[in-house]
Amino acid sequence: MPSAFKNLQFTALFAAALAAVLVAGFQYEVGEKTGWQKPTGKEPETYNQWASKNRFHIGDTVYFKYQKDSVLVVSSADYLNCNTSNPIAKYEDGKTVFTFDRPGFFYFISGQSDHCQSGQRLIVRVMHPSEVEAPEVAPSPAAAGGRDFGPPPVSSTSKLAAVSFFLAGAPVGLFLIPYLFV
Ligand SMILES: *[C@@H]1O[C@H](CO)[C@@H](O)[C@H](O)[C@H]1NC(C)=O
Repeated sequence: MPSAFKNLQFTALFAAALAAVLVAGFQYEVGEKTGWQKPTGKEPETYNQWASKNRFHIGDTVYFKYQKDSVLVVSSADYLNCNTSNPIAKYEDGKTVFTFDRPGFFYFISGQSDHCQSGQRLIVRVMHPSEVEAPEVAPSPAAAGGRDFGPPPVSSTSKLAAVSFFLAGAPVGLFLIPYLFV
């Protein structure tokens, strides 16, 4: 009984946490343990190799942790040339959280050109909402009947509804669980 109780409680907490993540977006830590710094050459992967393993969505954030450095958001041309002279945005607070507010490419470089030249730069591609939903959805009966147009079967609204259900349902579930074992 105690273990079943714990499992149920865990499941409810997990559902609530998952719902919170779906709403708030996911935070990626750039460079994980080493953070945002001039590469030494001993890293297991480059910043871009790391980025290519992840799927970034609108609302997700990247967290840059650094000392005596900076994060510049730049154009693709300035990214390629490590040109730090006209950034779109510049952060120097050492703990930068950047939120992706649109699909497409984002270019980040160190504010120190030689650091950028050594590989302290990052391209992130944020997926378009249609890319996120389409592959996960099985063809609906309507689509099978030859209806190729119209909104995808799972809309953002119904996703939000599912999330609200979790948010509303998890506390109720926690409240009810003890009674199952009385
Ligand atoms: C950086 O960009 C500015 C403005 O676009 C340009 O004038 C300058 O020559 C560039 N510097 C380098 C090193 O490419």
